[in-house]
Amino acid sequence: MNIKDLGQVASELILYGGPYSNLAALDALYKIASDMNVPPEAMICTGDVVAYGSDPVKTVELFRSRGGIGIAGNCEKQLAANAGDCGCGFDAGSTCDVLSRGWYPYADKAMTPEIRRFFASLPDVIVFTQNKRQYAVIHGGMTDISRFVCPDDPEAVFAAEIKAIQDAVGPIDGVISGHSGIAFEMVINGVHWINAGVIGMPEHDGSPDTRYVVLKDGQASIKRLSYDFVGSATRMNAVGLTQGYDRALICGYWPSEAILPLSMRLGKTA
Ligand SMILES: [Fe+2]
Repeated sequence: MNIKDLGQVASELILYGGPYSNLAALDALYKIASDMNVPPEAMICTGDVVAYGSDPVKTVELFRSRGGIGIAGNCEKQLAANAGDCGCGFDAGSTCDVLSRGWYPYADKAMTPEIRRFFASLPDVIVFTQNKRQYAVIHGGMTDISRFVCPDDPEAVFAAEIKAIQDAVGPIDGVISGHSGIAFEMVINGVHWINAGVIGMPEHDGSPDTRYVVLKDGQASIKRLSYDFVGSATRMNAVGLTQGYDRALICGYWPSEAILPLSMRLGKTA
């Protein structure tokens, strides 16, 4: 396992996940960071730089041009390995499975060998210390990179993941996660669990805004990111990515509720 220790970091960090090949969203986040005087080295990505959107290569290039710091998500892992799918383990024929057969081959085709090597070089876990508090950055779960850990999950799910993290990196005060696409925070047995959300796709709440987190002095603030979502959706349409995530950028609802916690489903059915 590739664990990267950033040591002591700035007292104010921007944490984010899932740029998802959404170039305009990542660009908008960098502009906000600049306005906040948060330098690129104080921005940490929880993975999935590439996924649903129209600009996988340009998004990676922007991330790298800013010295992007982040871990590998399942998308980076799968693309680095020349795998045939996103690695989420969706049930065959499920909506997510069918949708991934649209965007994943598009992203895969755009990857250069050099980008795949870059993805392979990314750490699995980042650890850092902020104001004497120790944090670990993971993607989905520590036991499974593609685990969808959501706020509805029982405490035992979080406790098991925290134990697995501590077994690998030692004692921690907080966890920064991603993958599920939902920003939230909770405290489990004294450990602050923060899902930084994703900037490349809204939260299934009817708004096109996406999410990121500012971590300052141990306090996590979930922020909304407004960006040119119409432009991003238009570019997806132009390249044939019309399976449903294009519309999600505009209407703010995901094309499938399969991976959503029950409390966030419109139909409220399992
Ligand atoms: Fe992911």
